[in-house]
Amino acid sequence: MTCSPTKKKKLCRFNCCSVSNTPSALMNRIPDPAVPTHVAIIMDGNGRWAIGRGLGRIFGHRKGVEAVRRTVDAARESGVRYLTLFAFSSENWRRPADEVNGIMELIASFIERELDNYHRQNMRFQMIGERHGLGPKVLAALTRAEAQTRDNTGLHVVVAINYGARGELASAMRVLARKVAEGALDPDAIDETMVGEHLDTFGIPDPDLVIRTSGEQRLSNFMLWQAAYAELVFIPCNWPDFDRDMFFEALGEYARRNRRFGAVSSPQAALTDF
Ligand code: IPE
Ligand code: IPE
Ligand code: MG
Repeated sequence: MTCSPTKKKKLCRFNCCSVSNTPSALMNRIPDPAVPTHVAIIMDGNGRWAIGRGLGRIFGHRKGVEAVRRTVDAARESGVRYLTLFAFSSENWRRPADEVNGIMELIASFIERELDNYHRQNMRFQMIGERHGLGPKVLAALTRAEAQTRDNTGLHVVVAINYGARGELASAMRVLARKVAEGALDPDAIDETMVGEHLDTFGIPDPDLVIRTSGEQRLSNFMLWQAAYAELVFIPCNWPDFDRDMFFEALGEYARRNRRFGAVSSPQAALTDF
């Protein structure tokens, strides 16, 4: 009998760990609880993707739309229940007007083009973020998508547009403060659940997994409250290059994490973990 030569370990797409299975095979062995209920993605790196190819930034945003389509398909396939896509932050208004207008146009036309198809697939759309300040075209597209898919029970896609977590929290505090000032609320009754109920994400479970592309390792004002115990996966590729395999690799990485929420993971771990 001859020994087969030692195989070089295959690294995952992020070059951070070894993998022995293809992403699809990997999914087959992930037990159900290891599939996150809610995956949120900070879709970053469109500008760098374009600049690296000698193109204007808007080409990166255009290419990024294809990655959105791939990711929605992958999320449906994976069994994830909620997919949040961070598309435009409350700070992104600081960009040149033509880039901002281009992004808004892309969001509106993507929704218009895909809505009927996604509705047939039983998907639900919801926007989080500040509606005030958005142009009429993108607002109309979002409002129609929300209304048309309101009763759907499949993948719930949350699009964060003109969203900033600090603004969201400040707005919740304003509402609560007003209720207290009117005598309708006892300040001692304000707890974490009540705060959560006053955020844009009311009714949506906290993200289990936050993915950020482009190699940046920060939250950039994204879901600061909701991501308190999210697992973070940073992917060193720009958003337009993100694909199905990377999505499943991120789910595999999530499945290997040990979430403790401040407790200990098992009686055995209680004896050995520090
Ligand atoms: C993310 O890509 C898209 C938005 C923020 C709208 P960027 O446009 O931030 O791309 P980089 O980070 O400049 O490469
Ligand atoms: C975060 O990316 C916002 C979105 C992906 C929509 P940014 O590109 O705006 O974040 P910073 O400026 O690098 O922190
Ligand atoms: Mg960026």
